[in-house]
Amino acid sequence: MNPDFEKIIEAGSRAPSGDNSQPWLFDIDDNSIVIYNNVNRDSSLYNYNQTASLIAIGACIENMIIAAGHFGYTADLVLFPDLSVSTKVAIINLSAGLTPVGDLYGHIIDRCNNRKAYQGIDLDEGERTALLGITNNFDGASLFLVEGRESVAKLSEAGGKNEKLVLENYWLHKFLFDQIAWSAESAASSGEGVYVKTLEMPPPAQLIFKLCSNWKVMKFFNKFHLADLICQQNTQLYKKTGAYGVVVARSDSPRDIVQAGRMIEKVWLSATKLGLSFNAMAGLVLLAARIRQGGTEHLTLAEQEVVRSSYSEIIKIFGIQHGFALFVFRLGHSLPPSARSYRMPIKRILCSSLTE
Ligand SMILES: Cc1cc2nc3c(=O)[nH]c(=O)nc-3n(C[C@H](O)[C@H](O)[C@H](O)COP(=O)(O)O)c2cc1C
Repeated sequence: MNPDFEKIIEAGSRAPSGDNSQPWLFDIDDNSIVIYNNVNRDSSLYNYNQTASLIAIGACIENMIIAAGHFGYTADLVLFPDLSVSTKVAIINLSAGLTPVGDLYGHIIDRCNNRKAYQGIDLDEGERTALLGITNNFDGASLFLVEGRESVAKLSEAGGKNEKLVLENYWLHKFLFDQIAWSAESAASSGEGVYVKTLEMPPPAQLIFKLCSNWKVMKFFNKFHLADLICQQNTQLYKKTGAYGVVVARSDSPRDIVQAGRMIEKVWLSATKLGLSFNAMAGLVLLAARIRQGGTEHLTLAEQEVVRSSYSEIIKIFGIQHGFALFVFRLGHSLPPSARSYRMPIKRILCSSLTE
C-alpha cells in the first residue's frame, strides 16, 4: 500500500465514534480510498438508522481530507457515490497537488474526549470567533455556542438525564457495559471499547460502577435511587463547564448527517488547537433522533417523554429554529484526561485484509 494512503487511513481511524465503535472500513482502488459504514459495529439505541455511525464516519472523512492535504494531495470527496449501496459512504479521489487545509493535522492525534470537571471559565473572544468561523464551510450543518451560568446550568440538567436513562434502561445499560474495557491491557490489546479510566470516576465510584455492570445489581441499587444520585452528581460537574455547543443538521438525510460529522471534527480539532477541552454529550439528542424517526421500541413512554422534553429545552436554549440538534458538547478549560482511548489495528479496518 502507498505509505501516504496508510497514513491518511490511520488519521481517519483516529476520529471519535459513539462508545469508540469505530464503524468504518476502508478500501483502496488505484488513487481513491473508499469508506464504508461497517453497520454491525454499533447496535446501540443511539444508532437508529445509523445516525451515530454516519456522524463518526463524517469525522473520519474530515480527518482524511486534512491528512491528504498535509501529505501533498488534493482530495476530491464524493459522498454516497453509489446509491444502490447505502454502506458505501464516500470515495476520496487523491491526486498530487496541494489543498489548503490549515494546520490541523498535528492535532488529530491530540484530540480526545475529556470527561473531567471543567473550570467554569468563559471562552475568550478569539476562541469564540475561531470556532464560529468554521460554520460556513459545511453545507447542511451549522454550529451554535452558548455561554452564561443560567444556560450552562439548564443544559447540564438536560445532559445529566442521559446518564439516568443509561442506568435505568436495560438496553442502554447493556450496550454501555458490553463496551467497557476494564483494564489498560484489554483496551490496548483489542483496540476497542471504552477504557474505564477515560470515564474519570474517582476510585470508590469505579468500584460501584463495576458492580453496576450486573443488571440485577443495577436494578437493586436503583430502588435506592442510585441512577438519580449519579445524574445529580454529573449535572453538578457539568455546571462548571465554560460553554456548550451544538452541531445542527439541516435534515436527517445520511448526507446531511455525514456533513455534520465533518463539522464536528473540524470544531473538535480547532478546539484542541486552542487548548480547549471538549466532551461529547450526544446521547440525549441521538435518542431524540431515534424517536423522531419512529424508533420508539425499547424506550418506555416515560423515557420518551424525558427525551422529548429535554430535547425541547436544548433547542430553546440554543435558539435553534431550523434543522435538528445532532451533537451537543461541552467546552472549556480543564486538566488533561487521565487516560486515552485506543484504536483497532489497521488490518482490522481494511477490506483487503479482511477478505485475505
Ligand atoms: C456520534 C457520537 C456520539 C458520542 N456520544 C458521547 C456521549 O454521549 N458521551 C460521551 O462521553 N462521549 C460521547 N462520544 C465520544 C466517544 O465516546 C469517543 O469519541 C470515543 O470513546 C473515542 O474516544 P476519543 O474521542 O477520546 O478518541 C460520542 C462520539 C460520537 C462520534
